[in-house]
Amino acid sequence: MSDSPHQTTADDPDRRLLVIAIDGPAGSGKSTVGRRLAAQLGLEYLDTGAMYRGVTFAALRRGIDPAEAEVVARLARQVELEVAEDRLVVDGVDASIEIRGPEVTRAVSIVAANPEVRAELVRRQREWAGERGGGVLEGRDIGSVVFPDAALKVYLTAAPEVRAARRSQEVTDLSYETVAADLARRDALDQGRADSPLALADGAVVVDTTDREIDDIVADLAARLP
Ligand code: DC
Repeated sequence: MSDSPHQTTADDPDRRLLVIAIDGPAGSGKSTVGRRLAAQLGLEYLDTGAMYRGVTFAALRRGIDPAEAEVVARLARQVELEVAEDRLVVDGVDASIEIRGPEVTRAVSIVAANPEVRAELVRRQREWAGERGGGVLEGRDIGSVVFPDAALKVYLTAAPEVRAARRSQEVTDLSYETVAADLARRDALDQGRADSPLALADGAVVVDTTDREIDDIVADLAARLP
């Protein structure tokens, strides 16, 4: 690990990456805060959860059981994922809408618990940042595993009922109760899995977004950059 607050690329150790790592549970505000912060700093933004959702979408589309660990891992290594802003193209098919739907949402935690899938997607996330000189990446393990030397590590939280209310606004076809129950189930899976569980990374700034304005949070985080 470097002694600088900025990460270096493996192939060119002198080239500094400006990485901002944002982690936290579903509905904690990662996407909203991450996108705004990226725009303000002129950096690109990567939603790594969309990548896990993309692999899940590809598996379901091929009729592969998400629990078939080896088959899903092979698929993760082969599948083409094009992530751009809020769009995700999986093997040439625009999956931006389907990856947010109930089928993918139900199955994604088991895919995200697959160590070989994680290894492949972490590799792609590091490559993505290396190609751009850095970026704002959001997920569950960005500050703890993907970029432990990130220039800024942020852990967002919010009250469970507020997180569920935010998510149920996004998925209009499900009741608040269904969304809240699904969120609690996914929280437990994401925090309890053996490989890279959602956890507070060393040195991360913890921000509770329950009652705070986005502009205020973004200004606060931008001011913390070295
Ligand atoms: O943020 P999201 O709800 O779109 O994430 C989808 C799933 O992927 C969720 O179960 C957590 C998991 N995930 C992960 O394990 N690691 C990441 N870096 C990002 C998401």
